[in-house]
Amino acid sequence: MPGKEAKQGLDLSGQVAAVTGGAGELCGAFAQALAAAGAAVAILDIRAELAEAKAKKIRKAKGRAIGIGADVTDRASLEAAAGRIRQEWRRLDLLINGAGGNSPLATTSDQQSFFDLPAEGVRQVFELNFLGTFLSCQILGKLILDTAGQGQIINLSSMNAFRPLTRIPAYSAAKAAVSNFTQWLAVHLAQNYTPQLRVNAIAPGFFLTDQNRFLLLDAKTGELTPRGKTILAHTPAGVFGQADDLISTLFWLLDPKSRLVNGVVVPVDGAFSAFSGV
Ligand SMILES: NC(=O)c1ccc[n+]([C@@H]2O[C@H](COP(=O)([O-])OP(=O)(O)OC[C@H]3O[C@@H](n4cnc5c(N)ncnc54)[C@H](O)[C@@H]3O)[C@@H](O)[C@H]2O)c1
Repeated sequence: MPGKEAKQGLDLSGQVAAVTGGAGELCGAFAQALAAAGAAVAILDIRAELAEAKAKKIRKAKGRAIGIGADVTDRASLEAAAGRIRQEWRRLDLLINGAGGNSPLATTSDQQSFFDLPAEGVRQVFELNFLGTFLSCQILGKLILDTAGQGQIINLSSMNAFRPLTRIPAYSAAKAAVSNFTQWLAVHLAQNYTPQLRVNAIAPGFFLTDQNRFLLLDAKTGELTPRGKTILAHTPAGVFGQADDLISTLFWLLDPKSRLVNGVVVPVDGAFSAFSGV
């Protein structure tokens, strides 16, 4: 079970975590690992039923979790989620902002040139990835300050933030904004509130999940697309990641001994971002 190893190193008993996008593949694994390390976990996701199903699975394994239907692009929805967490556990210590993703509407293709990309697609992708992270940091970050008084925020950035990938201009720009905002908020909180509320980001490399499967694997044959092949050829590790590959980095960032690690974006990418291609 993810987190079992981590539990031996980091005990999160008594702490409360909120994970947005927690019904998804990567953040679902984060939620499970946090619960296995002893945290009570609120799984926030626009897919309310799936959030509750993930929470149920954690409770079955003797962990503490609740599922909350929440839309990170909607302040009122996040405020309602914050109210529910306060009511349930009276505090919040850790926030993982995982809700995010690309949209076919903001992706260039033979059928849809850059010049024809609809503003609506670009807006959706910016709202979900950037505004969703921003609003969550405002509302749930405030809950951390008001209740625990210190803690951690971890945002989900991407390889696109370092250098844009072809075809997905809005997602690339929105994740660059998430990285930039991670740095901004780390400094702002440390200077104006407390350096004990750290803000960092994880930038996963390529993990096969629902949001990118259509770009990396042929829907009919399951074979790698030309793009999938190119990515693997540029990943010195030679593999796509699995959600569990991110857990050790998550726990390293959460460890109080990492108290000076603040405002950084950590790539977990099998050296994709380090490789020049030659
Ligand atoms: N999979 C990858 O290779 C990869 C690489 C880099 C970064 N990321 C980032 O990691 C995060 C998790 O990705 P994943 O691959 O697990 O994707 P996923 O699609 O499995 O999970 C994303 C979750 O966000 C939820 N969500 C969507 N809109 C929402 C909204 N408005 N409010 C609340 N929840 C909403 C979805 O229901 C889903 O459960 C995302 O931010 C993604 O951009 C993923």
